Amino acid sequence: MDTTATFWLPVSASTVAPDIDSLWGFVFWMSTFFFLLIVGMMVVFAIRYRRRAGDLENLDKGPSHNSMLEAAWIIIPTLLVIVIFIWGFRGFMRLSVVPANAMEVTVTGQKWFWSFSYPEGASTVNDLVVPVDQPVKLLMSSQDVIHSFFVPAFRIKRDVLPNRYQVAWFEATQVGEYDLFCTEYCGTSHSEMIGKVRVLTRADYNTWLEESTLGAEGMDPVELGRRLYVSKACITCHTIDGTPNNGPSFLGVFGHQVELANGTSVTADENYLRESILSPMSKVVAGYQPIMPTYQGLLKDAELDALVAYIKSLGAERE
Ligand code: CUA
Repeated sequence: MDTTATFWLPVSASTVAPDIDSLWGFVFWMSTFFFLLIVGMMVVFAIRYRRRAGDLENLDKGPSHNSMLEAAWIIIPTLLVIVIFIWGFRGFMRLSVVPANAMEVTVTGQKWFWSFSYPEGASTVNDLVVPVDQPVKLLMSSQDVIHSFFVPAFRIKRDVLPNRYQVAWFEATQVGEYDLFCTEYCGTSHSEMIGKVRVLTRADYNTWLEESTLGAEGMDPVELGRRLYVSKACITCHTIDGTPNNGPSFLGVFGHQVELANGTSVTADENYLRESILSPMSKVVAGYQPIMPTYQGLLKDAELDALVAYIKSLGAERE
């Protein structure tokens, strides 16, 4: 199986990809063939039967029809579309029916990141980590608007909707890192709603699972917070250099007065930070849209503490 990227298609790294690629190739080359045939004949006929001097006087009746030709242009395309339909339908069924031994990962899309929770209790943001050669069932839903889960290398794409579950599945065939995109325009930072699917060997996956369910015990809270700032996607909307983005920068927030959208102000202390992470609509900072999703349920207590510690460490730097 050729798994490398071609001029036309990205790397193919799932069990369903080769079949989808061959159908794609069939449709593509068939279309190319008929395009050249039809356009070629048009050009040849236009030249060969162009109007010449004296044509009008010598007009004869010409052929009225040709039964063989007419039958051919009905039967051949009909057979071709039947072949494409059956081929496509089999692929569609294969993509829709999840193998019984699939491991289940819950996927949540929200503005503007993906979060994943695994059967053993681990959870990640924007990085989906899976073992190779293992069917993975994705049970997907959205917290807000319609997103769409797209992994080109696996040839899977599925809309993720609020208020219902969508299901997709894949079995990765190659260890590696593959792009994950949101492919439904979902607002301001849609283009930043990107992640990776990290396919590990079974042994590496087990190690990863062990480490991530243990948590980062013993790590310096500020350092842990710095990592969470990236891994939990705070970085999508909040800078740490003072530049405003979708949300206020974290630089120089802690310990200072913050003007709120409702006209009041508040001192940014630990409780304010905690509340703003878990219940972002409660105290929206003046000048920003109330667009932050809640992190309730997405952070363990220790992770919340670490994020607060990290933002705190950026607080004093304003003066
Ligand atoms: Cu989510 Cu685009």
